[in-house]
Amino acid sequence: MSEAQAPEVTLDEIVALCKRRGFIFPSSEIYGGVGSTYDYGHYGVLLKNNVKAEWWRAMLSERDDIVALDSAILQHPRVWEASGHLEGFTDPLVDCRTCKQRFRADKLEDARCPQKPSKLPGEGPECDLTDAREFNLMFETNVGPVRDTASVAYLRPETAQGIFINFKNVLQFARKKPPFGIAQIGKSFRNEITTGNFIFRTREFEQMEMEYFVPPDEAERWHRYWLDERMRWYTDLGIRPDQLILREHGPDELSHYSSATSDIEYLFPMGYSELEGIANRGDFDLRQHAEFSGEKLEYFDQERGEAYVPHVIEPAAGVDRTALAFIVDAYDTEEVEGRKRTVLRLHPRVAPVKVAVLPLVSKAGMPEKAREVFEGLRRRLPAEFDEGGSIGKRYRRQDEIGTPWGVTVDGQTMEDDTVTLRDRDTLEQTRVAIGDLGDLLESKLADPWTSPKPT
Ligand code: GAP
Repeated sequence: MSEAQAPEVTLDEIVALCKRRGFIFPSSEIYGGVGSTYDYGHYGVLLKNNVKAEWWRAMLSERDDIVALDSAILQHPRVWEASGHLEGFTDPLVDCRTCKQRFRADKLEDARCPQKPSKLPGEGPECDLTDAREFNLMFETNVGPVRDTASVAYLRPETAQGIFINFKNVLQFARKKPPFGIAQIGKSFRNEITTGNFIFRTREFEQMEMEYFVPPDEAERWHRYWLDERMRWYTDLGIRPDQLILREHGPDELSHYSSATSDIEYLFPMGYSELEGIANRGDFDLRQHAEFSGEKLEYFDQERGEAYVPHVIEPAAGVDRTALAFIVDAYDTEEVEGRKRTVLRLHPRVAPVKVAVLPLVSKAGMPEKAREVFEGLRRRLPAEFDEGGSIGKRYRRQDEIGTPWGVTVDGQTMEDDTVTLRDRDTLEQTRVAIGDLGDLLESKLADPWTSPKPT
């Protein structure tokens, strides 16, 4: 994590909004919660679905050199030997003899022993710590009814290995030649020691990973290409460019498989932190799996008349972290007519609901008319019908879930079939004929969008 700057919003405010508006809840809350796991409510699901849909759009719909994959969470245990995870996917841990808690030896400044916390900020607890030992972050389980060493399996700690072990299958069916990519989105599991910061680091999370297979002599060029592409993805979806940085890993930080990695970092409330890693993995993974499985994992270049092991460029992002960055970047408050308004200024494509249809009052045929307008719109874009409570309260609710447009059915609607269209960001209200609404909103949704928040 880089140096922290004064946050525009605190994580507590984000957590409170997410709970209040049904985005994200602490998991197993009625039982007192379980550390660092979260459940996504209605709007959280819709937001995450939009994040994933935008990623698939960038990987699949907008290009023809990448194919999709959905591999299993449980894989052969040898996969994790070959990948280096069994031996190397560890954190150094120390135990506190006083409070019996475990801390990461390399993150002691963040550690808090409840009995003997440090009196100096930035220093570890003043308790009785053991020497560091390596702790593997993979969750172990058993496959089948017998719990013995032969039945041990692991919940995947990354989706990437599922791609490498399918390299041969995909190459045969997709008939692609390097450069080409295989993309997947799925759950990964890590028994993280230092969790926290809400959904930033959890033990169960979703990844969006793409392995891009390239001729060895083109690896550096494609690495640079994917750094630019991925940075652009975030800014096209409205993240303010000055809240993002690209940080190159130093030699001591590089994973065992990587010859170069750069992280895209976002300025979260706790400071600049990793959103996505873009690594040049060389030929490490294909060579390892070829050696451990005995299968040839290479590409035969007909033109050159020779086989080679492609090198791999990997953009690896987290769905939950991306969702958090979108919420943090969108969170805004302002005073309107003497009242505080909280609003999520999300890119319309990311917003869970695109349009809310609201009858001004619950009488004079307005609810029925509004329902009719809603039925027409919902077929074209994610819409919500909202009739409970005062109009002010309903606008505030829609502002807090980031709905970019509100359509109000009022007295004039009953006379001339026009509605009020309210813009979430400018609060501008315009009169639109009901018959034009669908086309207008669809075209607005396709328009480029930049955040109106100051940078
Ligand atoms: N295959 C490479 C790989 O897994 P990583 O940097 O460990 O690389 C990629 O993970 C991305 O997955 C991270 O940038 C982050 O967005 C997300 N991620 C990793 N660990 C996470 C955790 N414990 N909680 C939430 N997201 C996580």
